[in-house]
Amino acid sequence: MTDLTTDRNAWFIHDRFGLFVHWGIYASAARHEWVKSRERIGDEQYQRYFDHFDPDLYDPRAWARIARQAGMKYAVITSKHHDGFCLWDSKLTDYKAPNTPARRDLLHPFVDAFRAEGLKVGFYHSLIDWHHPEFPVDGFHPQRDDLEFRERAKNRDIRRYVEYLHGQVRELLTEFGPVDILWLDFSYPDRDWGWSKGKGKDDWQSERLIAMVRELMPNVLINNRAEVGADFVTPEQVQPRGWVAVNGRRVVWEACQTLNGSWGYDRDNLDWKSPALLIRMLVDSVSKGGNLLLNVGPTARGEFDPRATDVLGQIGAWIRLHGRAIYGCTQSDFVAPPDCRYTQRGNRLYLHVFAWPFRQIHLPGLGGKVEYAQFLHDASEIAIRPDAADDALTIVVPVQPPDVAVPVIELFLHESLH
Ligand code: GLC
Repeated sequence: MTDLTTDRNAWFIHDRFGLFVHWGIYASAARHEWVKSRERIGDEQYQRYFDHFDPDLYDPRAWARIARQAGMKYAVITSKHHDGFCLWDSKLTDYKAPNTPARRDLLHPFVDAFRAEGLKVGFYHSLIDWHHPEFPVDGFHPQRDDLEFRERAKNRDIRRYVEYLHGQVRELLTEFGPVDILWLDFSYPDRDWGWSKGKGKDDWQSERLIAMVRELMPNVLINNRAEVGADFVTPEQVQPRGWVAVNGRRVVWEACQTLNGSWGYDRDNLDWKSPALLIRMLVDSVSKGGNLLLNVGPTARGEFDPRATDVLGQIGAWIRLHGRAIYGCTQSDFVAPPDCRYTQRGNRLYLHVFAWPFRQIHLPGLGGKVEYAQFLHDASEIAIRPDAADDALTIVVPVQPPDVAVPVIELFLHESLH
């Protein structure tokens, strides 16, 4: 089994499941966190969300409890998204929560609440900034089609923006105690709109940025989207086909996924994934040696949408019984049968059954290797029979699947086999 564990990332690889939170004034627009860009909204019109942002029901302790009960072990929240709005009391800008009707720093209470529930905490910080006056206009910028605006903005100096960016990252790493993850987003150096080009590590001065981050916080885990110093890579809204590799080498990875296709609160989007699908996605990630960072976009009043709370509750009900098939587990060297996934921790091999078969499941290569088998949810014995073909083992399951979102069979391998 591949093991990429180091002192720094051991907790991350073990914990496997985290909460992503996208929260900012775009929650008021309630139609995706890219609304400013998608609808080409200028600063003046976007100001209405700033002026009316009043999350009176914000209770991060409730969020943290929901996350913990869902089985999540860490949380990453947007300190700033692409619209430039900051959740904390940054000294470097006025464009921040304390100047909205919220009238307070919203990030410190989040950090305190999640730490108190025993979760690790990270910051998603946008490299892109559609509010900053020195951020050069490009093909993603909300005012990209406003030629007069572009003309006025033509002397913008990204180096001045970069001082702001680096300064804010410094604040995030010095004012909140130990930060477990820094999730920078994102680079697009290959984009070319003709009149403007994309931005990447040279624009963000990522080498210098990451050197500062490492100096301030040697153990923080950094994602790959500043293009320098990555501890892990971040496939987005996709389940990779296998263990993610970079230049042919397996890497630490974390899929990030939404509940309904949007990261920010998106009121009229009905594309909600079912709890069973989300559980299968979590299992799928772990079966390929990765993590899952599952997103909630809270409302502008500061609550999780009831549909999000409900889904997370159902995931938690499954995790309560099946956590040991997730935490500390990774990809197995055995190849799972069709419609199944394996996860493994030491001599425990977990067979996650995605589609319930009739009576028998053949496990190639496992003949003579399994000492005992049981359902994980109730520790009830499952009969095993050697099967000469394929050096396989056959397990015999009841006609009715157990009443859990994804049934798991726990196989105890003979001690000498791992
Ligand atoms: C993208 C999007 C963004 C979202 C993020 C999450 O880069 O720009 O809105 O925050 O991915 O992975």
